[in-house]
Amino acid sequence: MNMRTQVAIVGGGPSGLLLSQLLNRAGIETVVLERRSRAHVLARIRAGVLEWGTVELLRRAGAGDRMDREGIVHDGCWLSADGEMFRIDFRESCGVGVMVYGQTEVTKHLYAAQDALGASHRHEVEDVVLHDLDSDAPRVTWREGGQAHALRCDFVAGCDGFRGVSRRSIPESVRQEFEKVYPFGWLGVLSRTPPVQDELIYASHARGFALASLRNPQLSRYYIQVPVETRVEDWSDDAFWEELRRRLPEEIAGTLVTGPAIEKSIAPLRSFVSEPMRWGRLFLCGDAAHIVPPTGAKGLNLAASDVHYLSRALIGFYRSGDAEGLDRYSDTALARVWKAMRFSWWLTTLMHRFPHHGPYERRMQDIELAVLREQPAARRMMAENYTGLPY
Ligand code: APR
Ligand code: PHB
Repeated sequence: MNMRTQVAIVGGGPSGLLLSQLLNRAGIETVVLERRSRAHVLARIRAGVLEWGTVELLRRAGAGDRMDREGIVHDGCWLSADGEMFRIDFRESCGVGVMVYGQTEVTKHLYAAQDALGASHRHEVEDVVLHDLDSDAPRVTWREGGQAHALRCDFVAGCDGFRGVSRRSIPESVRQEFEKVYPFGWLGVLSRTPPVQDELIYASHARGFALASLRNPQLSRYYIQVPVETRVEDWSDDAFWEELRRRLPEEIAGTLVTGPAIEKSIAPLRSFVSEPMRWGRLFLCGDAAHIVPPTGAKGLNLAASDVHYLSRALIGFYRSGDAEGLDRYSDTALARVWKAMRFSWWLTTLMHRFPHHGPYERRMQDIELAVLREQPAARRMMAENYTGLPY
């Protein structure tokens, strides 16, 4: 079947859905092509901290009602170093907080908002190929239920995540990739238990990093640093709880309520950026262009700022024929991406135990934590970056 739209969006994760939603609301036609079923996309469990800019963008997209009712505003978080805790007060340091709300829920609301607008979504598409991206008449082809399809469009938005086809459709000679793979992962557990604390705790410990997070007053999310080669099957629920207790400050660990894990998985830690984020009529957004380690929860938030820049540029183009925003997209988005890269690398390096670290690097981590505890300017740097740099 041959079709035509204004913006073809490859990938129906948070980036693709939010972009489609903002464009549709501005009267721009889109078709979202997603490799998986909707149920599969909605089964993914990811981080749960929204920067204030993301909160406002979701509201503007018409997908913020339940988030506003059920999300929890956090005005600070805790850092712990070998059992001693101190608080970073976001509101005092920089005037805003964050919203704790699960990404799975955000995705659900975006799908509902898209359905309400009657947006076009094609699921379980296979063999997506992007054609003629360097012409002014790009095309996307795919197979669906054994049938070949083609979509002509003005622009293609590559929102298909780290393993998608979009980034790889940019010639290798044009692409520059930056990558750092960390020698550990995070073992995460979701459990229907009251969170150990009402705010997040990032814990540095001789046995490795731990994070106490939450989704709501009955649902907790915890993580522990594990060696890269670890398999989920190696960790029983009991072993996980015992290890988490050891790494959290004693007075906190004593109040930890445990229960069966309703989800348990391992995520490797990686930093990755591919430049440029635009080639011809293809624009990359979110994980298709960059990956951050989860420390600092920047993944979804960076996807949101990319989508903000791209939607604004496309809306400008369709309203007035002005291509300046599109021409500047890659540089504008990358400037913010690199700052979030730095922040998540800094927080990861500060809080984890690295196999190759000697006494000097260990001491530097201790001192950096002491600087945060003692110096308001250091806490402000953390607060401004954690709650999200301006768009
Ligand atoms: N064709 C069509 N769809 C594809 C293809 C393909 N070849 N390859 C991947 N996809 C789909 C995936 O199935 C997925 O649903 O693209 C989507 C990409 O979604 P994410 O990986 O979630 O990436 P993004 O939308 O950029 O989200 C950014 O949200 O999911 C988190 O970890 C992610 O925090 C990050 C943020
Ligand atoms: C989470 O709740 O899943 C979460 C929170 C903060 C992070 C990472 C993950 O930095």
